[in-house]
Amino acid sequence: MNTTIDAFSPAKIGPYTLNNRFVMAPLTRNRAGAGNVPQPLNVEYYKQRSGAGLIITEASQISPMAVGYPGTPGIHSPEQVKGWRAVTDAVHAKGGLVFIQLWHVGRISHPSLLPGNATPVAPSAIRPDGEAFTMTGPQPFETPRALETEEIPAIVEDYVRAAKNAMDAGFDGVEIHAANGYLIDQFLRDGSNKRTDRYGGSLENRLRLLKEVTEAVITAIGPEKTGVRLSPENTFNDIRDSDPQTTFNAVADMLAGYGLLYLHVVEGDFVSGEAKLDYRELKRRFKGVYMANGGYDLERSLKAFEYGGADLVSIGKLFLANPDLVVRFRKGAALNEPDQATFYGGGAEGYTDYPFLES
Ligand code: PHB
Repeated sequence: MNTTIDAFSPAKIGPYTLNNRFVMAPLTRNRAGAGNVPQPLNVEYYKQRSGAGLIITEASQISPMAVGYPGTPGIHSPEQVKGWRAVTDAVHAKGGLVFIQLWHVGRISHPSLLPGNATPVAPSAIRPDGEAFTMTGPQPFETPRALETEEIPAIVEDYVRAAKNAMDAGFDGVEIHAANGYLIDQFLRDGSNKRTDRYGGSLENRLRLLKEVTEAVITAIGPEKTGVRLSPENTFNDIRDSDPQTTFNAVADMLAGYGLLYLHVVEGDFVSGEAKLDYRELKRRFKGVYMANGGYDLERSLKAFEYGGADLVSIGKLFLANPDLVVRFRKGAALNEPDQATFYGGGAEGYTDYPFLES
């Protein structure tokens, strides 16, 4: 953007005023209650972190077929909407803003997690390398079932219903999760999409599911309430593309026309830790608000704002371990260390018991 960005001052982003430019990144924490319903412990966790300029919740399933991990919340049942309502009320009472991330895992699942032990669905029947996290521990991924062309409109409808549910739950907006090897990303990249219908083959066809989901969601709730997340060079979940720069330049061009609130980009590869793509090119093509993610600490964030590498940054692990992260950044205070052992699953320990500066 420009060199006058003050990361700690309120930022006007579309119709919203963010209290600062540090966004809490979506983080899977596997602590939803029975029925994948958000519970009071989750309310406390998000409330503690409402000093973020914006919270993006953990990825949340749009339908029962979208589930890939135990204890991850959904946004498709009335009970889930009610559970999330308590989260949004708590964040708003603290003056924060909160978007929910809409998720379909596609092939990153296991029959034991799906209704009637269904086979996970994907663009093509290609088994990802690795293991699913099931209720009884890790189990090898199974070969997914390729979606029929005629089934895709119902999945787009599931995103729409989830986005409307998000409005009913009091969210300020939604983030379409098109990253990290889950369903939409499986369609975008040529390693996992070998379809011969209008959803595969050409680059334009591979982008079609994201295009249709984006258009349907913004029609339902408005482009200014909608963001999209991408991870162009992430190989996490055994996903790859033969030419990620070209693919994701085209995605950025495609998304540029809609007036979305932001584009959220995971810069680099979770697996190798490398970042080789030209992300400035994606930012330039998208034209709107660019939210950078991937190992940003205070120093790197300020540099990115100064040199025009980002309009917002999202931060995961540091927010997980520091509920008052923005206060600590502002004061130059020491940070709590994130504890890997309690990232996924469990109770309050490693979730709501990280200390605040003044406590
Ligand atoms: C995970 O559960 O490991 C996970 C979920 C969503 C992501 C990335 C990782 O986008």
